[in-house]
Amino acid sequence: MNIGIIGTGYVGLVTGVCLAHIGHKVICVDMDKEKINQLKRGIVPIYEPGLEPLLKKYMRSKRLSFSLSIKEVTQKSTVLFIAVGTPSKKNGDADLSYVENVSRQIAAHMNSYKLIVEKSTVPAETGEKITRTIRLNLPRKYKQGKKASLDFDVASNPEFLREGSAVEDFMSPDRVVIGVQSKKAEELLREIYKPLKTKIIVTNMNSAELIKHASNSFLATKISFINALSRICDKVGADVLKIAEGMGLDKRIGRSFLDAGIGYGGSCFPKDVDAFIRLSEKSGYDFKLLQEVRRINEEQKQFFLKLIEDKLWILKNKTIGVLGLAFKPNTDDIRNAPSLDIISALQKEGAKIKAYDPQAMEKAKDVFHDVAFCKDPYALSKGCDCLLLLTEWDEFKSLNFTKIKNLMRHAIIFDGRNFYANQNMEELGFEYYGLGLGFNTEKSG
Ligand code: UDX
Ligand code: UDX
Repeated sequence: MNIGIIGTGYVGLVTGVCLAHIGHKVICVDMDKEKINQLKRGIVPIYEPGLEPLLKKYMRSKRLSFSLSIKEVTQKSTVLFIAVGTPSKKNGDADLSYVENVSRQIAAHMNSYKLIVEKSTVPAETGEKITRTIRLNLPRKYKQGKKASLDFDVASNPEFLREGSAVEDFMSPDRVVIGVQSKKAEELLREIYKPLKTKIIVTNMNSAELIKHASNSFLATKISFINALSRICDKVGADVLKIAEGMGLDKRIGRSFLDAGIGYGGSCFPKDVDAFIRLSEKSGYDFKLLQEVRRINEEQKQFFLKLIEDKLWILKNKTIGVLGLAFKPNTDDIRNAPSLDIISALQKEGAKIKAYDPQAMEKAKDVFHDVAFCKDPYALSKGCDCLLLLTEWDEFKSLNFTKIKNLMRHAIIFDGRNFYANQNMEELGFEYYGLGLGFNTEKSG
C-alpha cells in the first residue's frame, strides 16, 4: 500500500521505516529541511538501535523515500499518518497546532479518497476535530456541490514505541489499536498491519485516543508507586528491589515499570500525564490520582538533590560528575530528562558539573551550559567530589571502579537508578547511596 508519514521524528521515522520493512511503499515528509536532506543522504538524525540499516535497505529498494512536499505525499498516498510533535503548553494542554496545520495542508491537496491516521499522541476528541478541519479545508471544487464532496476517513492509531527499542516494539507489538469511523478505514488499517500477525483492537476514535493516554499514565503510575515505596523503604530500612521483585511475581502486577529511581522523563510520560490531567479537567473530572503521580515524580528529584546536599554539606565549588544525561539508556533523547532539573539545581548552588553520556552529549550541548563534557567515565571522575548515576547505560556496569575511586577527590556515589545496588560499592571503597535500598537517609535529615 502507498503510505505517507508526516513528521519524521522519533515516532514518524521509525513508523515509516518499519512500514516499509513489512512491505509497504512509504514516503516520509517533514518541514525540517536539514532533517530531510540528512535522511535523503541516508543519515539518521536520531540514535535508535537497528533503525539505520533498515532505512538504508529500503531507500535502496525504493520502498522508502523522503520529501519536503505535503502535496506530493498526499497525492501519492492512500493512507497518511500524522506523526508531528504534540508538545505540552504551559498549562499542560497538548499543543495540537502542528496537527491542525498538517491536517489543513493535507485537505488542501486531496484529489481522491484518503485515510488520515493520527499516530501522534493526542487527547480524546482530536480525531473529530481533524475530521472537521479536513472537511472545511477541502479544495473548493469539492465543496461547491458541483462534484460529490471528496470521500475520506480519519482514524486513530496510537503508537506504543519505547525509545531505544522502538523498532522491536513496532515489529512485535502487544497489540495494534485502531479507532475508526468506517468499515473502509478498518479494512485499510487491518491490511497495513496484517504482516505483524498481532492482536488488533478495533474501537471508535475517542476510545483509541484514550487507550494511549491511559496506557502511558498507568505506566507512569506504576513508576510513581514504586518511587513512593522507595521513600518508605529509606525510612523503615527495607529494600525496594526485593519489594519490586516480590510484587512483580504476581502476574496481575508484573515486574516491569517497578524500578525506583529519580523518576520518569522523556517526550511522552511527562507530556501525556499533563495532557490527560488537563483533558480530564476539561471534561469535568478532577484526576487527583494522576496529579499525585506527577507530584511524586517531581518530588523524587528533589529528594535526590536533598540526599546529595545532606552528604556533601556545601555544594558551592564542589565538582560533581554526572554519569548519563539521556532520559533513559539506548537513546540520545534528553527531552524532560531528570538530568536537566538535577544539573540546573546543583549549578544554582554553585556546584561545578562534569558530564558523560555515550550518545546524548551532542544534543546535551545545545541545552546544558557551563557543563564540562568528558570523553569517558574516567576523564569524568578525575577530581570529582562525588558521582551521580542518572542513566543506567549498560557500559556503566563494567567500569574499573578501583581506577575511578583513585581518580576521584572523594569516593562517593549517588545512584539515581539503583544501578549498582548489587555491586557492593562499599567493599570497593565507595560511600554509596541509592533510593529505597534501606539507607536511613531521611532519619539523619
Ligand atoms: C511526536 C509527538 O511528540 C508524540 O506525542 C507522538 O507520540 C509522536 O510524535 P516525536 O516523534 O518524538 O513524537 O516528535 P519529534 O521528535 O518532535 O518529531 C516531530 C517531527 O515533526 C519533527 O521532525 C518536526 O520537524 C516535524 N513537524 C512538526 C512537521 O513536519 N510539520 C509540523 O507542522 C510540525
Ligand atoms: C514510553 C512508553 O513506554 C511507550 O509505550 C510510549 O509509546 C512512549 O512513552 P519511552 O518514554 O520511550 O516510552 O520510555 P520508557 O521506557 O517507557 O521510560 C520512560 C521513563 O520512565 C524513562 O525516563 C525511564 O527512566 C523511566 N522509568 C521506566 C522508570 O523510572 N522506572 C521504570 O521502572 C521504567
